[in-house]
Amino acid sequence: MSLDPWHYPRTEFTHDTFVSLTRGPIASMSLFGPRRTGKTEFLLKDLGALAGDSYGHRVLYASFWQTGADPLAMMLYACDTALRPRSYGERVGAWLGNLPVKIRLGALKGMAEVEIDLSRKQSPRPADDLLLLDSYLDRLGDSRKPAILLFDEFQEIAGHDQAEQVMAGLRTSLDTRKSGVRTIFTGSSQVALKKVFDGRKAPFYRFAHPLHLPALDAGFVAHQLKVFHQVYRRKIDPARAAHVFERFDRNPLFLQRWLMSMGTDRTLDEDAAVTRTFADLAAELDYDRTWRKLAPYHRAMARILAERAGDPMGEAGAARYAELLGTKAPIPQTRQSYLRTLERRGIVDQWDREWRIADPIFEAWILDRGPDAF
Ligand SMILES: Nc1ncnc2c1ncn2[C@@H]1O[C@H](COP(=O)(O)OP(=O)(O)OP(=O)(O)O)[C@@H](O)[C@H]1O
Ligand SMILES: [Mg+2]
Repeated sequence: MSLDPWHYPRTEFTHDTFVSLTRGPIASMSLFGPRRTGKTEFLLKDLGALAGDSYGHRVLYASFWQTGADPLAMMLYACDTALRPRSYGERVGAWLGNLPVKIRLGALKGMAEVEIDLSRKQSPRPADDLLLLDSYLDRLGDSRKPAILLFDEFQEIAGHDQAEQVMAGLRTSLDTRKSGVRTIFTGSSQVALKKVFDGRKAPFYRFAHPLHLPALDAGFVAHQLKVFHQVYRRKIDPARAAHVFERFDRNPLFLQRWLMSMGTDRTLDEDAAVTRTFADLAAELDYDRTWRKLAPYHRAMARILAERAGDPMGEAGAARYAELLGTKAPIPQTRQSYLRTLERRGIVDQWDREWRIADPIFEAWILDRGPDAF
């Protein structure tokens, strides 16, 4: 399906998600997964491709990660492109390429033409735009082959000035078209996405069925090694690759960057490639700066979470804190406030009620620092 040879299809998960989404009792789902573990890849290359290319559903992709832009304008644009006669691949390509600044909407039969600035901060007439969105969703809706909306990084909508109004409008539109329009929302922050769905006042309260992106299995590593062999005509020891994959919490990006570093530099052996990849990613993702901005007590808290020893707020957590900083641990409430700071800065996230470092590569980076890093 996907033309990317490195893409490892999540066949079963894609099938189950697809049938649940198109034929299940609940019209929308929310997809959680830690940073850089393949949520977007799954939406675009697995689910979207299966639904759009193989089964001929109309699939619409929109990412809300466009800083400062108006989410309503994004949705209108995504709907408008979905109604134009283009293939799924062309539409996604257009979205992932450069978004235009200004777009003309509604050059479709029976709709008034409107010009929208995609980079506008908010809609001058949200009620009108919501009506327009509603009529787009009406056109997209098809109860025989539901249109599939892939809304990536949806938690970003919460920070927008008109968020409440936009979400209420969107919810009403989706609610009234359950059989014709089905939606999957993803977020890289589970806490933030939960706020969108679970807040009692939130219009999406208990709206979407939660789904967890499963970690990639050993087949992913075997697939990457096979493609590596085809591309570079060299072999990598599968046991070493499996070890690297496990050490970095089955992170697909890390494994691929590790392979690429050996592909582009024949002098690197497997261990040197790990060191190089780790250093390169840390520099690109600016871990050092994030770390330097933290006070020692925040760092201690982050380290305790990275160690995943359990019970960070309890006695074990307090003992570890004392060990790391050489001072008595403050009361649990104070440590809780450290945790909130880490959460606000996007460093930690909650998984199944357990607090974790949100980015698995950052977690490995923290563990890699000596305990004297405080
Ligand atoms: N199934 C897969 N097959 C091959 N490569 C994959 C797969 N899933 C993820 N990857 C690789 O991992 C990288 C990160 O994946 P992706 O961007 O989809 O993660 P994400 O969870 O959406 O991240 P973020 O939290 O930053 O939005 C991809 O660019 C791709 O190179
Ligand atoms: Mg993503």
